[in-house]
Amino acid sequence: MRVLITGVCGFAGHSLARQLPALVPGLEITGFDSLARAGSEINRRTNGVKLIHGDLRCACDLESLPAVDWVIDAAAQPSVMGGVDGKSSSRQMVEHNLLGTLNMLEYCKRHRAGLILLSTSRVCSIVALNALPMHVKDSRFVPTAMVPGLSNKGVNESFSTATPISLYGSTKLASESLALEYGAAFDFPVYVNRCGVLAGAEQFGTAEQGIFSWWIHAWRARLPLRYIGFGAEGLQVRDALHPNDLARLIATQLGNNNTAKPQIVHIGGGMDRSMSLAELSVWCAGAMGAHEVGRDENGRPFDVPWLVMDSSLATSTWDWQPEISLESTLEEIARHATNHPDWITRVNA
Ligand SMILES: NC(=O)c1ccc[n+]([C@@H]2O[C@H](COP(=O)([O-])OP(=O)(O)OC[C@H]3O[C@@H](n4cnc5c(N)ncnc54)[C@H](O)[C@@H]3O)[C@@H](O)[C@H]2O)c1
Repeated sequence: MRVLITGVCGFAGHSLARQLPALVPGLEITGFDSLARAGSEINRRTNGVKLIHGDLRCACDLESLPAVDWVIDAAAQPSVMGGVDGKSSSRQMVEHNLLGTLNMLEYCKRHRAGLILLSTSRVCSIVALNALPMHVKDSRFVPTAMVPGLSNKGVNESFSTATPISLYGSTKLASESLALEYGAAFDFPVYVNRCGVLAGAEQFGTAEQGIFSWWIHAWRARLPLRYIGFGAEGLQVRDALHPNDLARLIATQLGNNNTAKPQIVHIGGGMDRSMSLAELSVWCAGAMGAHEVGRDENGRPFDVPWLVMDSSLATSTWDWQPEISLESTLEEIARHATNHPDWITRVNA
């Protein structure tokens, strides 16, 4: 089977390019990346993968791509602050994420290639997430009542996606919609995996994106860290999904053209792999010694207090669930931070 991975030099794309050949025998991978992300240059070479340097925003850059059977779209500007933080423009964000998807879909249409789109938990409504009734238990927020789309396993596919969801979230939600339409209109399979926070070694973590990686690397380097917003106690919770677990799901989806299957699934580490920032700090102190964390009462735009993905539909649809424990993911990141003390400056250039 021939596969094109866009964003192949990014954290998810690179991990998938390394993992999938062992999971799908006979896989031929072509990679595509603009190397726009700081740090992506490090992943220029992956064994057995031919890298094509190009920009998804430019339709002509896709003309020279070979025909494939499946596309895994892992190229995006993946930060909720993208387009609003003054580092990149709003137009750039939309063009990378939405125009990029459009050009990819035209490519899929041309070659009748199936598409696996990496989407995000951040398509979930910020207003609805901020309105969840919470109490504090130990050092984390815990929802106290269930609302539509929320169970004791986390947020599922029926949770509200009403705006505001950030510019990033809206480019992904629009990409999902466009992908499903193209698949239906031009008869190719489309699967959308809405990922929670991805975490693992070699991630290009920043304060805005890749929080588990950023926090551990910054702790190791004794860089300033702050609990921001929500009372500034670090009670906000996320779950962590290791990209190798994502690879197992995608290996099952590749080659599958069963139109009866749900096309959008939530995937994440779930409650067992969830943690608050305060809990992460306790873990870091145990692993790497003490470090002071500052407090900033002023919240950040687009932030939410609690977001854990309920992967039940992915489990019943694809017989998939995460296997890598949170502890082992955190240890892996810490080991990488120890072995690469300059990582955080290289990927935050
Ligand atoms: N990292 C997470 O926690 C997370 C969570 C949920 C969903 N996702 C989704 O997973 C996908 C991959 O995220 P990631 O964490 O690997 O991001 P990343 O920034 O590490 O990798 C993205 C890659 O895409 C490339 N790229 C960006 N714009 C491009 C363009 N116009 N043309 C060609 N290449 C381009 C970048 O150079 C980079 O190598 C994204 O779609 C993101 O929305 C990520």
